Amino acid sequence: MSEVDARFDAFFRHRIGMDIGSVGPKVVAMAIERRQRWQRLPSIDAYWALLEQDDAECQALIESVVVSESWFYRYAESFAALRRVALERRGGAPLRLLSLPCASGEEPYSIVMTLFDAGLGPAEFSVDAVDVSDRALSRAREARYGPHAFRDSAVKAHQHHFLFTEEGAQVTERVRRQVRLFQGNLLEPAQSQVLGVYDVVFCRNLLIYLDAQARNRALAMLSELSAPGGLVFVAPSEACLLLRSGFRAAPLPQSSAFFASSTQPAGPPPSSPGVRRERPQSKVRRASERRASAPLTKRCLQPKAPSLEHELARVERLANARCFDEALTLCRQLQTRLGPDASIYYWQGLIHDARGDASRAVDDYRKALYLCPDHVEALMQLAALSEARGDDAQASRLRYRLQLKSSTQG
Ligand SMILES: C[S@@+](CC[C@H](N)C(=O)[O-])C[C@H]1O[C@@H](n2cnc3c(N)ncnc32)[C@H](O)[C@@H]1O
Repeated sequence: MSEVDARFDAFFRHRIGMDIGSVGPKVVAMAIERRQRWQRLPSIDAYWALLEQDDAECQALIESVVVSESWFYRYAESFAALRRVALERRGGAPLRLLSLPCASGEEPYSIVMTLFDAGLGPAEFSVDAVDVSDRALSRAREARYGPHAFRDSAVKAHQHHFLFTEEGAQVTERVRRQVRLFQGNLLEPAQSQVLGVYDVVFCRNLLIYLDAQARNRALAMLSELSAPGGLVFVAPSEACLLLRSGFRAAPLPQSSAFFASSTQPAGPPPSSPGVRRERPQSKVRRASERRASAPLTKRCLQPKAPSLEHELARVERLANARCFDEALTLCRQLQTRLGPDASIYYWQGLIHDARGDASRAVDDYRKALYLCPDHVEALMQLAALSEARGDDAQASRLRYRLQLKSSTQG
């Protein structure tokens, strides 16, 4: 069986929202065949009949296709942002955090290590961690990891949270105690009743595997799971999905963090229990924040004229109001009036990205980088977009450029 039988395609969509194209139909077809052989069944129909009546087999089939790869301090910038949020928020009610999906535990344990190393005590926060895979959860419970879990160098600063043995690196008891592990499915509406609401939700590298319908349900669940003013962290390649769905980018550079739309308070920032906010948010980060957070080359740092600054703020307002056509028209007028400019191309890219036109977005980010090779945010967006389009080689080249840039900045 090289292509996947429609019944199985529907099974995965219905059970876990998975678009089998995201992992490859061949991989899924082979997994089904393996399970059929394991059950010593003569045909795919016989295997389907078993699946219809056996929950344990359903779980086994799901286990055989989910991708549970993870590592410590994946997208290290998110953890730097988390540290900042936790310190700003300190002194209020204990911070409630959720890692969903948590896979084999590297993500929730990285959260705990970050908060302990920021100086928080065990009573100041709690971490719930959920995944649909029992197998991944038992690895999380064991909490012993091999070299692959250490591929991000950011983990080096947190090595004191491990006991290194011949069998692998064991997460310390103190860190493990801080995490509650649950088996669960993001798409199950009962989930939020079971788990409550959170100030910070990490939901990274799940949305990319979901079909459009499941993704919408997942985004709605993320809003439900978020406390007022709560933050949702996603993977960089998933950021444009949130932007398109009305989530607002949080002013935390390079972190792919968003305020859940339905939980965004209209009035002044809440004192508690939400995450404290210092400034009004915008769906697309403000030009002033971009400058402060993402240092560009000297040439890019110099605003051409006060009018550009002012005009880019107008572009931003239009983009935030989802008046994409008007925002793009304004960008084009600015290019004509002021000449080619990296910031304007960057904004055009962001707007094309937000409306789902990836190829135009790529084109504009490239132009921004041609004019300003160190434009950090254009590099980040283009890397995320390349990854989302399956161009991993291009994504790694761009991330390498970002790494070089941050290492030369000390
Ligand atoms: C690639 S891992 C992501 C782990 C971690 N968040 C990270 O970014 O490193 C994806 C995980 O999603 C889990 N998963 C897939 N569908 C799910 C669903 N509907 N609900 C909860 N977890 C799910 C899989 O079991 C797998 O462990």
